[in-house]
Amino acid sequence: MSDATPRDSHTLRLAVSPDGQPREAVSRAAELLRAGQLVAFPTETVYGLGADATNPAAVEGIFAAKGRPHSDPLIVHIAEMRQLPDVVSHVPDSAARLAERFWPGPLTLVLPGAASIPASVTAGGDTVGVRMPSHPVARLLLAAANVPVAAPSANRFMHTSPTTAAHVLADLDGRIACVLDGGPATVGVESTVLDLTTEPARVLRPGGVTLEELREVLPDVLGPRRSEASSEREELTATAARAPGQMPRHYAPHTPLVVFDAPGQAGRDAVRREAERALAGGQRVGALLSDEDARALADLPVRVEPLGPSADLAGISRRLYAALRSLDDGSLDLLLAHTFGKHGMGLALEDRLRRAAGGTLRPV
Ligand code: TXA
Ligand code: MG
Repeated sequence: MSDATPRDSHTLRLAVSPDGQPREAVSRAAELLRAGQLVAFPTETVYGLGADATNPAAVEGIFAAKGRPHSDPLIVHIAEMRQLPDVVSHVPDSAARLAERFWPGPLTLVLPGAASIPASVTAGGDTVGVRMPSHPVARLLLAAANVPVAAPSANRFMHTSPTTAAHVLADLDGRIACVLDGGPATVGVESTVLDLTTEPARVLRPGGVTLEELREVLPDVLGPRRSEASSEREELTATAARAPGQMPRHYAPHTPLVVFDAPGQAGRDAVRREAERALAGGQRVGALLSDEDARALADLPVRVEPLGPSADLAGISRRLYAALRSLDDGSLDLLLAHTFGKHGMGLALEDRLRRAAGGTLRPV
């Protein structure tokens, strides 16, 4: 096939347009999935590392390829509502209404799991996370495979999630059968994970669907545990119980990252002070900044990855992981950033930046 680029390492890269042409490439990837192979594919959030969710041996391959512990459950991806009963044992009315509004899209619903889903997918629990992605390539692949597909983000465990096929290959080349390259992800951070097995429902991981949007459908949805916890210890204990896999350190670059806990001018000033201090100590400094921040720091010898206008949180989310990976090329000693508030995508950005920084934000 002309669009297949064989690599020495045997990970097959199949290029497709964002709307899934040529179809032969999608069919070939679907055949690999059905044969129990691992296939990375684009979703609107990040690239996923897919395996047939009904095939325990295939699912096992995901943990091996990622170096991921079995305590971390996987999200099951479906193409159509008719597949939902194959994955979950009960669909509450709230799930039906949320699916109606947000599927296909970046929302994962945690529901009582169906008996046919292997224990490795659910980390031995009785619930399963399920979502219907909106990316046309993901939809075509899932439809052609015609099986539910378990897919974590296609990065090595704890590393920054991939938003391009090149990111996937940087982490997993030679460890997986195939990557379907459909161009960069458009949302850029992972799906919102919403637990519907508790009353009221609670966000376990903020993501591509905002808390405000969820509350338009379910007014009493609780936000992520952290925002209400009175202490770090309480937060960690509570999160470990309800949200397996939500590690305080995650999405992490190899270069140390400090994230200041303030949006706007206060965050920008804190980044400047720390950059000046580190530069004076001979450190090589990089920063993830809005365009406005970048202009304000233009007089300093800091390598900046501009994330876009500060008012465009969707754009900042889309660029965040690529910027983190780009600054993490070994040429810098310290990376700096600040948060973007708690409204809309600000919550997901804060969560990912905190974890990328090792689990804590630096007070300002
Ligand atoms: O956007 C996304 O969700 C991407 C794309 C590929 O769909 N996937 C993704 O998967 O981010 P992963 O494995 O990197 O993160 C999934 C997280 C798990 O770490 C876990 O915290 C949570 O979702 N999760 C999955 N199943 C769960 C369950 N049954 N109960 C509680 N949390 C669950
Ligand atoms: Mg992940």
